[in-house]
Order: sequence, then structure tokens, then C-alpha cells
Amino acid sequence: MLSRVKWCIDATFSSLSFCNELHLAQFRKAFQRVKNKKKFSEEELEIIRQVLTIREELLLSEDKIFSHNNKGTETERPVKEECRLSSLAHEWGLLLFSLIRQFKPAHSLELGTNLGVSGLYQVAAMKLNEKGLFYTFDANSSLLSIAKTNFKKIDGRRVKVTAGMFQNTLPVFLNEFKHQFDFALIDGHHQKGPTINYFRQLTPCLAKNSILVFDDIRWNREMQEAWEEIYNSEVVDYSFDFSKLGICVCKSDRPLPHKKYFKIIFKLISANLPVIRDIGRD
Ligand SMILES: C[S@@+](CC[C@H](N)C(=O)[O-])C[C@H]1O[C@@H](n2cnc3c(N)ncnc32)[C@H](O)[C@@H]1O
Repeated sequence: MLSRVKWCIDATFSSLSFCNELHLAQFRKAFQRVKNKKKFSEEELEIIRQVLTIREELLLSEDKIFSHNNKGTETERPVKEECRLSSLAHEWGLLLFSLIRQFKPAHSLELGTNLGVSGLYQVAAMKLNEKGLFYTFDANSSLLSIAKTNFKKIDGRRVKVTAGMFQNTLPVFLNEFKHQFDFALIDGHHQKGPTINYFRQLTPCLAKNSILVFDDIRWNREMQEAWEEIYNSEVVDYSFDFSKLGICVCKSDRPLPHKKYFKIIFKLISANLPVIRDIGRD
């Protein structure tokens, strides 16, 4: 069962349809497929249903997950609550799925595994692509053990999980990593300094035309400042602002004549019926 979404496309975003720039046209196609789910094939809908089934199980689970608060005290909360509060909403998951189907990354990185929900959409797309390895990081081993079980239900062979604080694990991992990332989702540690730091650490390891997705770019003032610094950075050729998610295209081999910033506003009118309105500007 897929939720219904209405998109209103304004002139600027629509103008992408007349744009001959191949990469931009591919983005437009990926976005359009989320807007109009009829554009998903039966095979795609089937694997999306599998992801939704796992998500629904998590949303019903009374099992407990454990974490440590700032004072080092162990706290527990039900999986269903963690999933409701922390997992990317279905529509954003579909956007990740659609982007990965479109661009077929070979190596994809995720900071913030949590219960594996956002990862499941990505791994599902990679499975259909028959291509891609997914490297995901989180500090909470209680969450990671649930995530690993869920990844195995879709395609566990594509997933490498790293446990520990990003500050410690990411530099070591990147130092040993022999490839380049063509896709990444940064969804954890929502502070300005760390977010910019992770972006800077990743930059030398990015492939041409790589896509970086940042979640919660308006989570707080710090995240908004981080996002502004990131999309203005030299390495970013153009970006899409979905209000919640920010998407950057880095190291483009065909940069646009002028750096572009596409703003796409996502508006929730009720908890169950998300409405995505697109307004755009250069
Ligand atoms: C918002 S959740 C990620 C949600 C997930 N991407 C999804 O949509 O299914 C953020 C995750 O980042 C992890 N996290 C936050 N700061 C971290 C850090 N400094 N090092 C490692 N993990 C961190 C948390 O444990 C949490 O699971």
C-alpha cells in the first residue's frame, strides 16, 4: 500500500523537462517517478512492498532497543517508537530508491543506519540494478542488529555495516577504502561542525557526478548553516532543496553554465497525506 502524493510543479522545475543536459534530465525522471508511481514497474512495486512490509513490522514491534544518553545512562524504548521517530518517511525512501535506480551507484555510503529503513530502499534499488555495495554506519549496536536482520530480507550481500561513532569510524574507513563513492546519505549527528566535517572528509573520496543527500537540512539553525555552506562549496555543481532533504551533485563532468539551486518545497498537510509542492528558482 503506497501513500498518495500530490506534486505541484512550477515553471522553473518544469523547465527541466526542456533541458537537454543529460544529468539534469535524469534527475527530473527520478523525481517524476516518485511523483507518479504508475511509472514504477511491477518488479519495482513488488520490492517496494517488501520494504513496506518490513517497515510495518517495525512500526508494530514492542521489542526494546537500548541506547546511552549524554550522561552515559542506558535508556530503552520500543522499536515501534524508534521507527516512528527516526526513520525516513516512505516518500523520501522512494526518492532514494528512484535516484539509485536511475544513477546505479557502485558504492554508496550512509551515515546513520538506525533500524535500516532508509537503507532498505537503497539496497532494494541496488538489488534490482544488480549492482552496488552499500556501506552504512551507526554507533548503536542494538539498532544495528535489527537493521542487519532486515537487510538480509532484501539483499544482505550488498551491505557492509560499521559500528561506532562516525568521528572514529569514518576516517579509518575512508583511509582504507580503495574505491570512490558515487552516492551518499548523511543522516545523523545533525550539527553544523560535524556535518561539514563529514562532507569535507568524503569530498576526496567522491566519484565524478556523485550524489550527496543530506537529511534534515532545516532541523535547526546549525543544519541550515551547514547546508548553505555545503551547497555553495566548490565541489558542488548544483543542488536540489527539498526543504527536508538536500541533494547535491558533486564533481560534475558536465557542469551547468551557471551554478544552479533548485528549491522544491515539501509540505505535510496531514500525518498520513504528504503533499509535495515544487517551487523552483535558480
Ligand atoms: C535519524 S537516525 C537515521 C535514520 C535512518 N537513516 C533511517 O531513515 O532509517 C540517526 C542515526 O544516527 C546515529 N548517530 C547519530 N550521531 C552519531 C555519531 N556521531 N556516530 C555514529 N552514529 C550516530 C544514531 O544512532 C541514529 O541511529
